[in-house]
Amino acid sequence: MNFLPIFVDLRSRSCLMVGGGEVAARKVELLIRAGASVEVVSPKLGDSLNRLNKEYSQIEWIESEFVNSHINKQQLIYAATDNSVVNREVSELAQQHNIPVNVVDAPELCTFITPSIIDRSPVVAAISTGGSSPVLARLIRSQLETMIPSAYGRLAQLASRFRLKVQEKIKPEQRRIFWEKMLQGPIAEMVFSGREGEAEKSMQDMIEHCSNKHSGRTSGKDNILNQGEVYLVGGGPGDPDLLTFRALRLMQQADVVVYDRLISPAVLDLVRRDAEQIYVGKESSNHSVPQSEINQLLAKLAEQGKRVLRLKGGDPFIFGRGGEEIELLAERGISFQIVPGITAASGISSYAGIPLTHRDHAQSVTFATGHLKDNSSNLNWAALAQPGQTIVFYMGLKGIKTISAKLIEHGMDPLTPAALVQKGTTPDQKEYIGSLVTLPEIVAESQIKPPTLIIIGSVVTLHDRLNWFDPEQNQGSKPRVF
Ligand SMILES: C[S@@+](CC[C@H](N)C(=O)[O-])C[C@H]1O[C@@H](n2cnc3c(N)ncnc32)[C@H](O)[C@@H]1O
Repeated sequence: MNFLPIFVDLRSRSCLMVGGGEVAARKVELLIRAGASVEVVSPKLGDSLNRLNKEYSQIEWIESEFVNSHINKQQLIYAATDNSVVNREVSELAQQHNIPVNVVDAPELCTFITPSIIDRSPVVAAISTGGSSPVLARLIRSQLETMIPSAYGRLAQLASRFRLKVQEKIKPEQRRIFWEKMLQGPIAEMVFSGREGEAEKSMQDMIEHCSNKHSGRTSGKDNILNQGEVYLVGGGPGDPDLLTFRALRLMQQADVVVYDRLISPAVLDLVRRDAEQIYVGKESSNHSVPQSEINQLLAKLAEQGKRVLRLKGGDPFIFGRGGEEIELLAERGISFQIVPGITAASGISSYAGIPLTHRDHAQSVTFATGHLKDNSSNLNWAALAQPGQTIVFYMGLKGIKTISAKLIEHGMDPLTPAALVQKGTTPDQKEYIGSLVTLPEIVAESQIKPPTLIIIGSVVTLHDRLNWFDPEQNQGSKPRVF
């Protein structure tokens, strides 16, 4: 190890920056974030430092060339001028005064280097390659950024508020286990999903429960650590790269996953390997597991203390019955959280190069179900047939003839462009393009593989120019494993 990683307390301490350009500005900003006061020596300031100087009283601009007397017992010294002679001089003088010095882009003149950082204050992670490849450090950082929830800082603050109470109530030999459970369990999830009041209360219950248990008394309350919960997660339209960070994190910590037909194998592949998998697949005419049974199943698994991942295609709240599934959980007081996903209309319109709105074509967009009850009577066809909008039909493959006929009957131009996209965002994506009048024929003559989405409106004409996704290039592409 060439450098010792340490964290330095700079609050209200003085640092020196020699240089006034953009690189200097980035370092000064970091020093200010760490609470330091900074003397900046430079005859001129660039735009960014000028702005910082006006904004922060902790910056003192010394409008001059560097001279030896500027070094004056500071905690840290930086040199970031474009003059290598001055940079070297600053480094030598700082070392004579035993003050740590960093010269930007000149590792041989540095006695300390600044790492790439992930800031979830008070949690901070630092990555260094010892100056050998700052770009590699940044790449590693961006991978870690995706894995460390942005709310870790709030979790650390919660832990810090209860530190003394835990010390007082929980025996030393039990504390490590207590913190591990708290930081990885339902309380952490409450913080990550913004339910901090609930987390605070659960923390009090958990401390009470654990201290009673150790002293042989029972609290009569359910132990928060043994309570299960349900994550209702949108798995997006198929491409695993379209999952959210939160979806991925919950997928990797669930004990059991309950999923349906729309979940692509590539997405399912990212669920924790040893999680139990329960398929409750549904097709429009063949409900393999009735909805009420799915609702009961989720509640039962959570009541057994499991972390249940209910993984749904697209977004759970768009034609996804997500609302029905959590109603029962809410009734029974079971903890749950909902993670939105990219709905089919967004994913498929992007991957097919068909914008859903466009100033020259459509000022609004409607998502409608094509799963027609009573052979179509339940949609407001007159409103859907109005010009200047885009209509997206989910579950419309079987009803495409009726959809087309009804829209024409209510005044839509039969030549209105229309597209049907099969298995959008996956290696099997295929677009069938026609018009309101021709699309049903095109579909009847083709071997279509569900799921499919129908987009109607003049935005479809943009497909020719904006179509960028090449499914062939995505054949066999492996999902990224974090
Ligand atoms: C029961 S709905 C669920 C919608 C989902 N909750 C969403 O937000 O995308 C199922 C319909 O979504 C559409 N769909 C979902 N994924 C799709 C995909 N990859 N390609 C085309 N259509 C898709 C199809 O119309 C399918 O019949």
